Amino acid sequence: MNQDQLKEAVAKAALDYIHPKLSEDSIIGVGTGSTANYFIDALATIKTSFDGTVASSEATAERLKSHGIPVYELNTVPHLEFYIDGADETNDRLELIKGGGGALTREKIVAAVAQEFVCIVDDTKMVDILGEFPLPIEVLPMARSHVARELVKLGGDPVYREGFVTDNGNIILDIHNMDLSAPISVEERINQITGVVTNGLFACRPANVLLMGTAEGVKTIT
Ligand code: 5RP
Repeated sequence: MNQDQLKEAVAKAALDYIHPKLSEDSIIGVGTGSTANYFIDALATIKTSFDGTVASSEATAERLKSHGIPVYELNTVPHLEFYIDGADETNDRLELIKGGGGALTREKIVAAVAQEFVCIVDDTKMVDILGEFPLPIEVLPMARSHVARELVKLGGDPVYREGFVTDNGNIILDIHNMDLSAPISVEERINQITGVVTNGLFACRPANVLLMGTAEGVKTIT
């Protein structure tokens, strides 16, 4: 199986995981990226089994709507049962790096609200120590240089993601070579830099369940 086939398989496994637990009132948070897109396409096959969704990006909202799946504003939703999303890296504690697609802020907000975060990845995303994938940071545009200097003080090498603007009108700095062996404290430390909107570490709120596509089938890790 190639990587795309693993992503599709794990997306279908996520559908099988949540389907028995859904009711007609259920609202599902939906992530962003190619693995999440496979999940959206699978979700369309059961769209009469739940009420609707909350999207973590404009691109995801568009794809959901193209399938005729209702998309709600998060503020109008009292309860989100599941959040289904991919990741750029995960460790075996289900701490993640996310934001390769630049949607990290809305992803983190939806994940914060959801009762259960089901992360869906192919097995290339599993690492012993996070950080080979550059850590994305969403930053207010006027704070770009200040935040970059502070990140250098923390030991990272920030790189401006040229030509990219987030759904929230901000920029992304991708940090290379950062020591992420203690992800919770790094997540908290970066959040304290004035001008940072969100960082792509999901360690304070890790996933609850990881479904990982492998050549031998989908593994469930909790
Ligand atoms: C987007 C994300 C994605 O979940 C992450 O980049 C993984 O993407 P893909 O499923 O395409 O490999 O965090 O901001």
